[in-house]
Amino acid sequence: MNERREVILSALREAGDAGISGEVLAESLGVSRAAVAKHITALRDFGYEIKAARGAGYVLAAVPDTLLVHEIAPLLRSGFWTRIETLPETGSTNDVAKTLARAGAGQGTVVLASRQSAGRGRLGRSWMSPDGGIYLSAVLRPQTPLAEISALPLVIAIGVARGLAASNVGPRLKWPNDVYLDDAGVRGDERGRPSGKVAGVLLEMAAESDRAEWVVAGVGINVKAPVQRFAGAAYLDDHLIDPLPVSQVAAHVLDHIAGVYREFSVAGFASLAAEYRQLSLLEGCDVTVTGMDGAVRARGRAMGVDLLGRLVVAQPDGETLAVSSGDVTLRRTEH
Ligand code: BTN
Repeated sequence: MNERREVILSALREAGDAGISGEVLAESLGVSRAAVAKHITALRDFGYEIKAARGAGYVLAAVPDTLLVHEIAPLLRSGFWTRIETLPETGSTNDVAKTLARAGAGQGTVVLASRQSAGRGRLGRSWMSPDGGIYLSAVLRPQTPLAEISALPLVIAIGVARGLAASNVGPRLKWPNDVYLDDAGVRGDERGRPSGKVAGVLLEMAAESDRAEWVVAGVGINVKAPVQRFAGAAYLDDHLIDPLPVSQVAAHVLDHIAGVYREFSVAGFASLAAEYRQLSLLEGCDVTVTGMDGAVRARGRAMGVDLLGRLVVAQPDGETLAVSSGDVTLRRTEH
């Protein structure tokens, strides 16, 4: 959206129901009334409902419930996000953010899309990304030593969980960085709401000798259920009596990613491990961790995570293993 449209939009917001005339807008922008009318048409094309009332001029009647920078930016509390790009559709926001990072985009750059045609997930899987979700990728430039960066995906997952909690649901984490609503796959949901995985995190990075040059943290969140729901997925709006605008959810998640990332940058994962364990739905459960090749890496009781973000598994033979990647399946045991 161009700068003039931004100015028109904030003037419309400020005017509220009283409205603002095309003449006043034209004068304050130093353009013709015809140019103002063109910008109003463009804003309508973005989904803004703008009424043209006789006498009152233009009145902003409704804003679109889509990811638009001019809806998200005013809601952000954190000053971390310095460059926000919103796209109606792209292949993968991680790819867009990686291109920006390689071209020198600073930490605090974030790309959001309403739809992805080639969304990618962990372990080489694809991430179905229809309308109704939030697909975002943030450029980070952590100064954390490379050896400790392995905990960063878990840190981002805490940020997503905090952001969803601020959006009025109770998220849980499944190692390493899946976000669930309710204990999906363990007990089902007694209240009958479809529960499952609501968000996933995919980190990609380029490293120098002992530091990351850049990290792209990609987050996919299921907000509104598509006509054909994905097996095992949960959708935020199913869990809310009053669903929030998607921009508000995105702003909550971005603010909390910024907050938790700052904590990690200052104090490392040590300061966050307890919160991770509290949010974890694996804690104290019997789990099996399998690698990409399907081979079992560990089987036993999940005992939390270590400072490198590895899952600690106590095996039946008494040995303890720390696993750094893989897929977890679990069976709840009675305590
Ligand atoms: C997972 O497998 O759970 C991780 C899914 C990560 C999906 C997000 S959507 C935004 C960003 N762009 C991508 O292509 N992937 C990530």
